[in-house]
Amino acid sequence: MLEDLLKLRRDTRHFTNEPVPDSVLQKALMAGHMAPSVGLTDATRYYIIRSGEVKLAVKHLFDNYSRKAEQLIETDDQKSAYRALKLEGITDAPIGLVVCYDRSVLNEFTIGTIATNDTIRSSAVCAIQNIWLSLTEQGYSMGWVSILNYHQFKKILNLPDEIEPLGYFCVGKPATDYEKQPMLQQLGWKNKSELPAVAEIDSLSGAASVESSTIVPADHQNVSAQLSAAIDGKTKPLGSLGMLEDLALQIGTVLGTLSPQITDPQLVVFAADHGIAHHGVSAYPQEVTRQMVNNFLDGGAAINVFCRQHQIALKVVDAGVNYDFAPNADLIVHKIAKGTQSFLYAAAMSAAELELCLQKGAEVVAEVQKGGSNTIGFGEMGIGNTSSASVLMHLLCGLPLQDCVGKGTGVNAAQLQKKQEILQLAISRYQGSHEVKHLMAHFGGFEMMQIAGAMLEAKKRNLLILVDGFICTVAYLCAFKLDPELQRNAIFCHQSDEQGHRLLLEQLNAKALLKLDLRLGEGTGCALAFPLLKSAVDFLNDMASFESAEVSTGAV
Ligand SMILES: Cc1cc2nc3c(=O)[nH]c(=O)nc-3n(C[C@H](O)[C@H](O)[C@H](O)COP(=O)(O)O)c2cc1C
Repeated sequence: MLEDLLKLRRDTRHFTNEPVPDSVLQKALMAGHMAPSVGLTDATRYYIIRSGEVKLAVKHLFDNYSRKAEQLIETDDQKSAYRALKLEGITDAPIGLVVCYDRSVLNEFTIGTIATNDTIRSSAVCAIQNIWLSLTEQGYSMGWVSILNYHQFKKILNLPDEIEPLGYFCVGKPATDYEKQPMLQQLGWKNKSELPAVAEIDSLSGAASVESSTIVPADHQNVSAQLSAAIDGKTKPLGSLGMLEDLALQIGTVLGTLSPQITDPQLVVFAADHGIAHHGVSAYPQEVTRQMVNNFLDGGAAINVFCRQHQIALKVVDAGVNYDFAPNADLIVHKIAKGTQSFLYAAAMSAAELELCLQKGAEVVAEVQKGGSNTIGFGEMGIGNTSSASVLMHLLCGLPLQDCVGKGTGVNAAQLQKKQEILQLAISRYQGSHEVKHLMAHFGGFEMMQIAGAMLEAKKRNLLILVDGFICTVAYLCAFKLDPELQRNAIFCHQSDEQGHRLLLEQLNAKALLKLDLRLGEGTGCALAFPLLKSAVDFLNDMASFESAEVSTGAV
């Protein structure tokens, strides 16, 4: 009987205008409710649409996207075949059903989301299938419409931020049985495979690593001595260009030349969410991470402005934001999971996830270098990440926790107190080893760990590494613990207003180029310091030497 029902179920686009009785819909929704939900999160939400006006608005959205899809099809034959398909039945079906999941359930600890937050979405899919089968059993059917712009879809339906729709479902009495096969197959678009794709895995394989054959080590010492002589030989009192001289020496040494050029500078903002953000450690809710990623992609954030000002290319990496972004040429999707676990209860990430972060970060750098860049700045975005950074700093530097914890996005005194208490509690619960990678996995964030991996790769490839504020410096600290040589390539751009940053730079023996009291992250310090790098390179390349200008070197 179940098998008959499974065979009978069809994705339906053609409906009669017969209404769907309430009892049928209720029974189907109850079937949805009986579906498994991870950790009994009960996160699936349903919205019923009967209004013609609302249906029409959804149909317009579908039409817009469908036209876009059509443009992506290459041949004219395929284009007209696509046009002939009926891919929706929004206005024909008597009822529209929107099935969603509620992300706010993640604000509470649940055993169901220990490995990944994606499970609440999967649970909603289980409910959808139950509804599909129940409708079929009752002589009705439904069709899944997913070709929609979900951003606009949420807007027109006025869905709250935390409610994520999986699709729009047309529900009604089917007008055809599509000859008992998928409609797309009946219309000759594509055939469904006859058997399920199954393979047995009977051995273990090692993880792939980033290929790094393009790395050419420079003869740093030799270049360095020649650079120092060239800098001292410029028409100025010895050392009078202060930190610019150090900068010129460093840039020339890293790039292995007496006449360095900065080529195709690139800034990469890594973004991710943090489980710890659910414990009131930030002045902002988690949603802000994804809102800011959208802002970066729309070109409206501070980092966009400064990158445009200095002609720095900007890319955004989704290292683990609790949201699925629409494809975008400026977005690199390296999502490890939808946010880390809260390190108040468990390791933020597994050892395997940490390795994946390091690898994914390295891949970004390999791509950037392929594009011709020799200078890469790192920025971050992730609500809750100052908490993660403070704990890592405390544990890796051995400094008192209260010296490492700051206001972050701007918590007040009481919230700061709470933040410290929560972090202290998390640390006191930690039973693991103090080996660097163990600490990185337990307390890290996906964006910070990908930055650490990226920095390590940038060092291997002789690139200049621009380090931004507090979070990026903690990512650097982690990477530095794994490879102290990293220091050679790192340029510390800005000393943040976040209280731990000054101490951290001291610990690292590092001096930042700027101190503007910024505490924004995003890589803004890197972009703002960029003109100083250019000045350093320019004076080295273009300034006259005592010899060339025939100026005497001796003091009068
Ligand atoms: C997640 C999901 C989203 C889908 N979205 C659409 C859609 O927007 N438009 C459409 O015509 N079919 C959509 N379909 C239907 C499939 O493309 C496919 O035709 C159908 O599932 C196979 O037919 P059957 O369900 O009758 O076996 C969707 C199916 C799934 C599972």
